[in-house]
Amino acid sequence: MNWNTIFAKRTRWMRRNAMRELLKVTLQPEVISFAGGLPAAELFPMQRVREAVKQVLDTVGPQALQYGQTEGVGGLRDWIARQFRVQRENVLITSGAQQALDLIGRVLLNEGDRVIVENPTYLALLSAWRPLGVEFLPAPSDTDGMRVDGLEPLWPRQPKCIYLTPNFQNPQGTTLTLARRERLIELARKHGMAVVEDNPYGELRYSGASLPHLFEIDGNVVIHTGSFSKVLMPGLRVGWVVAAQEVIDKLVQAKQAADLHTSTLNQHIAFELATNGCLAEFVPLLRRAYGERRDCMLTALAQHFPQGASWTRPDGGMFLLVTLPKHLNATELLPAALERKVAYVPGEEFHLNGEGRNTLRLNFSNATPEQIAAGIARLGDVLKNTTVDTV
Ligand SMILES: Cc1ncc(COP(=O)(O)O)c(C=O)c1O
Repeated sequence: MNWNTIFAKRTRWMRRNAMRELLKVTLQPEVISFAGGLPAAELFPMQRVREAVKQVLDTVGPQALQYGQTEGVGGLRDWIARQFRVQRENVLITSGAQQALDLIGRVLLNEGDRVIVENPTYLALLSAWRPLGVEFLPAPSDTDGMRVDGLEPLWPRQPKCIYLTPNFQNPQGTTLTLARRERLIELARKHGMAVVEDNPYGELRYSGASLPHLFEIDGNVVIHTGSFSKVLMPGLRVGWVVAAQEVIDKLVQAKQAADLHTSTLNQHIAFELATNGCLAEFVPLLRRAYGERRDCMLTALAQHFPQGASWTRPDGGMFLLVTLPKHLNATELLPAALERKVAYVPGEEFHLNGEGRNTLRLNFSNATPEQIAAGIARLGDVLKNTTVDTV
């Protein structure tokens, strides 16, 4: 069978996720990986999860293993609704925030629609929405997030929606300022454009003051997505959408076709952990551990990276983005880094229009402080050797 003649046209826009391929190499124990977006598994509260599973099976009983409503488990929806001061009807539970983004794309976007994204942006959003045949309009960004004042040239293209991660963006780690949040909502209202606010990292703040969600500024134009992946554990695959009821209703129809509902058992476990004190204890522990790892990485970068390199200084989340001198190409440098048993993701992956060749994304949540210090020293060596060779 020549499958290429059988595959749907939209598969032409599907690509292998380079990061997932790379992660295979990083499974070797001697490799220090700054590549994936993984939480620190050694911190997972295993005993609390064991107890939560038992509690769910004892109290919810066989219903915890039964088919459930597409919208999600009522108690969990109510718990999320309370955080956002909305009704249960404004909340849909999804199989991770990734499914939320996939479903949002399916219900909002037609082929040829234009979508504004930060440049660079979250790679798996591009993977989810590219097969829909949309055109991405890259918006410039700086250390304060998307440059909302730089959107002017895009209005004549009549974008239908804008996707962004205002808190601790992946891959830059940047946070959108309050003034920009307010201005963005004004612009969205003026131009009749939906705003998709992706917020998996918002609770992981290590410095600076919290800012209001875009959804809190205007719940009519914003579709908000969140997740337990980064604040509990990603293996649960429990995320959510908060939006106007008519948006939720459409998303429910799309989700019904996609997977009927998110795992009933996992929703109950997440609900138990969110309400029995585990989440409230675990998040501060993560903030301390990841905050220390971020600081350790910033110190090591200052110590070991060559002159001419710069990097973002995130207030939270899991990533920072390094910019190398213009003549260096992070994709070409990767084999030398892997040879020294250290991994990162070339920043080009996250950019549109072939930009960002001299950038690389570093994750600081997964490696221990000792590994971070050693890994950044190794990377620094690779860069310094290359800098000397190429000058
Ligand atoms: C910006 C962003 N959005 C969404 C997701 C998906 O998260 P989830 O595990 O909830 O599907 C991730 C995961 O890395 C992410 O970085």
